[in-house]
Amino acid sequence: MHDFQYKNNTLYCEDLPVATVAEAVGTPFYLYSAATLTRHFTAFDRAFASIPHLTCFAVKSCANIAILRLFANLGGGADIVSEGELFRARAAGIDPQKIVYSGVGKTAVEIRAALKAGILMLNVESEQELAVIQTEAAALGLKAPVSFRVNPDVDPRTHAYISTGLAKNKFGIPIGDALRVYLAAQKLPNITIKGVSCHIGSQLIQVSPFVESLVKLKSFIAQLAEQGIAITHLDLGGGLGIRYNDEEPPEPDEYARAIKMELADLDCTLILEPGRVLVGNAGVLITKVLYTKEGLKKFIIVDAGMNDLARPSLYNAFHLIQAVERQDQEQTVADVVGPICETGDFLARERLLPQVTAGDLLAVMSAGAYGFSMSSNYNSRPRVAEVLVHGDGFHLIRARETKESLIQGESIPEFLGKHGA
Ligand SMILES: Cc1ncc(COP(=O)(O)O)c(C=O)c1O
Repeated sequence: MHDFQYKNNTLYCEDLPVATVAEAVGTPFYLYSAATLTRHFTAFDRAFASIPHLTCFAVKSCANIAILRLFANLGGGADIVSEGELFRARAAGIDPQKIVYSGVGKTAVEIRAALKAGILMLNVESEQELAVIQTEAAALGLKAPVSFRVNPDVDPRTHAYISTGLAKNKFGIPIGDALRVYLAAQKLPNITIKGVSCHIGSQLIQVSPFVESLVKLKSFIAQLAEQGIAITHLDLGGGLGIRYNDEEPPEPDEYARAIKMELADLDCTLILEPGRVLVGNAGVLITKVLYTKEGLKKFIIVDAGMNDLARPSLYNAFHLIQAVERQDQEQTVADVVGPICETGDFLARERLLPQVTAGDLLAVMSAGAYGFSMSSNYNSRPRVAEVLVHGDGFHLIRARETKESLIQGESIPEFLGKHGA
């Protein structure tokens, strides 16, 4: 499944002891395995090899340009949601014709940048956005390639915060309104309709909601065809889940088989926007035990907090936590907490863990997706380093931020005085 394995009770990433990296870069840090990333991309992409398709990695899940380049080298494109992600994708060398742009709140400036870059298509999420795209495309004297993100009102059966395909969610155009919007778009001089898109949610552990939305999209595409609107691209978004604890998500093969079966009679290029399934289990967060304390409960206080990995605090998400050096320690129930001044700052709660002492290293597993990319400077903590392992070597792909970087761009107006009190 992944390349974080024990050899003689020492955790390795591929052929490199994790402790060696910790010694070199300090803690906390994110650690990714190039072999796992490559295997995950290849397994996913090959599952669709029999049909015309494009795998556009969801940049938001893990945005480091080294990782984007790794996927680009394997033929991948990018699913972006901001001008910043467009910049990253281009910096990583991703072909603009392999970039799709989703998101409910694209600004005129962002739309212009995407049009200038010549991306494959913008996934439009509202009629007002369409009007802005028309204006921007006209100003640039070109035709904007668009797809509309249709909201199929399908329950993805996942955490409420990452459900996106229900009618009550903010995303997409309700499927009942979509035909009218396509017909309106068809009349716009600077719009080229390319596709239909949808993304119903993240961390889906069943195939059925994907199939359910595909069935709805197919019948919608047939309606479009009756109106003379031919679709060349069908974008099914991302969302395939991974195993964090005891989940049993479908393998990419099973997911692909179900989709290909439904797609059999559709003549268009399939676009996929996987994020988590490619990177989630390919990355871990390494943290060091600072202190332990015992009162009513036992706490293991580590040097990584909710600003470094938000998922446990934000979604009550489970991440397996393992000792980097495994011994025959006694097990104990403890909360693993960070240094942030919030009770919500935890990485695990009431978890059976090995007895640890100050200085021990812990690996927070399955942290590659929505880990670093959701991290922040809260409590004025510099964001941590990111390291990519390749065989028995490692590469610092993002340096730890400095104290100076924390105040970069800040200034003290003159009326507050030249020197402090
Ligand atoms: C439009 C879109 N595409 C793709 C993804 C990636 O989802 P996942 O990481 O679950 O594959 C997301 C995530 O929220 C998204 O919003």
